[in-house]
Amino acid sequence: MCGIIGAVSQRDIAKILLEGLRYLEYRGYDSAGLMVVNSTGKANRLRCVGKVNNLVCAAEHAVLLGETGIAHTRWATHGKPEESNAHPHISTNIAVVHNGIIENYELLRDQLRNRGYTFFSETDTEVVAHLVHWEQQRGGSLLTVVQRIIPDLCGTYGMVILDTYSPDRLIAVRSGSPLVIGCGIDENFIVSDPMALLSVTRRFIYLEEGDIAQISSYGIEIMDRCNNIVQRCEIELDTHYDAGNKGLYSHYMQKEIYEQPLVLINTLSGRYNNSLVELSEFNDQTYSLLKQVEHIQIVACGTSYHAGMVARYWFESLANMPCDVEIASEFRYRRSVVRKNSLFITLSQSGETADTLAALRLSKNLGYLGSLSICNVSSSSLIRESDFSLMTKAGIEVGVASTKSFTTQLAVLLILVAKISSLKGTTSKVEKEIVNALQILPGCIEEVLLQDKLISKLAQNFSNKNHALFLGRGEQYPIAMEGALKLKEISYIHAEAYAAGELKHGPLALIDSEMPVIVVAPQNSLLDKLKSNIEEVRARGGLLYIFTNSISSFSGSHNIHIIPLPHIPVVLEPIVYIVPLQLLSYYIALMRGTDLDKPRNLAKSVTVE
Ligand code: M6R
Repeated sequence: MCGIIGAVSQRDIAKILLEGLRYLEYRGYDSAGLMVVNSTGKANRLRCVGKVNNLVCAAEHAVLLGETGIAHTRWATHGKPEESNAHPHISTNIAVVHNGIIENYELLRDQLRNRGYTFFSETDTEVVAHLVHWEQQRGGSLLTVVQRIIPDLCGTYGMVILDTYSPDRLIAVRSGSPLVIGCGIDENFIVSDPMALLSVTRRFIYLEEGDIAQISSYGIEIMDRCNNIVQRCEIELDTHYDAGNKGLYSHYMQKEIYEQPLVLINTLSGRYNNSLVELSEFNDQTYSLLKQVEHIQIVACGTSYHAGMVARYWFESLANMPCDVEIASEFRYRRSVVRKNSLFITLSQSGETADTLAALRLSKNLGYLGSLSICNVSSSSLIRESDFSLMTKAGIEVGVASTKSFTTQLAVLLILVAKISSLKGTTSKVEKEIVNALQILPGCIEEVLLQDKLISKLAQNFSNKNHALFLGRGEQYPIAMEGALKLKEISYIHAEAYAAGELKHGPLALIDSEMPVIVVAPQNSLLDKLKSNIEEVRARGGLLYIFTNSISSFSGSHNIHIIPLPHIPVVLEPIVYIVPLQLLSYYIALMRGTDLDKPRNLAKSVTVE
């Protein structure tokens, strides 16, 4: 999953490409590169390992003149994050940037080696450059050459191809990875995400699956997968991008944790009135569809999957609605049985996660009643391809670790549970209880944030730990999973989560005085059961960190730390209890000195499978 951008203009284009790459960095930051070519065919390529800023600094000392160019920020799939593997990849006059995976690259590489080509990288992408170069010997324009090689490629790709012998055009190909044309005045662009081009244009054309586009400064020509010329509609984006700065905070993640009360207010605002849910996004057709729903299938990845897991408890216990949740990468590759009148729900912050999108596309042929996406990016593929959507209004989330997008997803899911419960039930009791609870949610989170200092002190105990265990029961089990995910992704401490009742079936063997055990223990009907599990850990010398609003339930001793949390309605517990775990991970990572907004090996948006 990488970010790509290309431009054909009548002015030097390197600065615009670099600026675009800065935005696209959320798609990967292992290496970055660009190539520009001027009207005489003179080309310059520059590539650097690491973040886009390294490339920007290197560009200050390089000559990068040219009106046509392509650029790339990489998340390594094939080949280490080294300069030789950074894009663009070239074959004499052909240069390529690519987002996706060419699955049959080994076969193609062997064939091309036999034809005399030398490979300079370990990537799957380099085969495309050589293949285009080889095919060009058979004649034809760059466009027809690319059209001829497409059937040879298996896998997913958003690609932009440049030919220094025809520097007045770029060819873009979309198959499985999004690409959007930016329409300028006497210049045109192609990009993975239109937000990266907002400084130069607001007019965009989304390519569809299988499309090939020829882009020059004076025109755009689009062909579908059968090579028919097609018109794709141009839209004008009125969004603006402002990630803001970190202000008083040291990191975006810290800022985003602290923004949660505010973004929850934004997400909930206008969605209820007089204790009843109001969803202006839904029309009569949506409501009549929701009335028919007898089962819910949620599909998502990572943190969004954890939100789906919480929602499963809610749908079944509060709305009496059968619900299943599955990781998108599993769902898309197995034959599943579609329940009668099942609604397909996808959850995603970015709306561009490759596996979630693929699952949505698959669902369309499986007989679901319809598809609903809950998403944070209104211009995303997920929103455009779903039957209907509910937006989370978390604002731009920059930190790779999802925080505010998770709590806002949970808030929207709870609203949906309330609505479905009243549409399917005979009373609006559950709906009213949920809405009343949601009204105090932002305040509850404010209160939890007051434990910041205590949590930052506790974090010191973790600085030299290599492992941690997270425990929860019921709706708090997915919260334990989310807490463990936060810890491992930003502090690189191995963390696992267990449903506390599972401890005695194996993981208890891990417990000793070196193993921190973090327990999510709100005062609810499962607390007594959880207390027994805590005793099992305590009896074996485990080091306990208990997040609870039932302080009197736990007697202090040297190996128990209690983190007191406020009394809140039970239905809000999962949303509120994740916040101290986010803070804990943040402070542990801070002490360990990791790059916590851009942790190693990860990317904000996972656009390859
Ligand atoms: O954009 P999405 O919500 O679809 O992303 C799914 C996961 O990649 C994401 O939730 C990931 O697990 C988090 N960034 C981890 O904090």
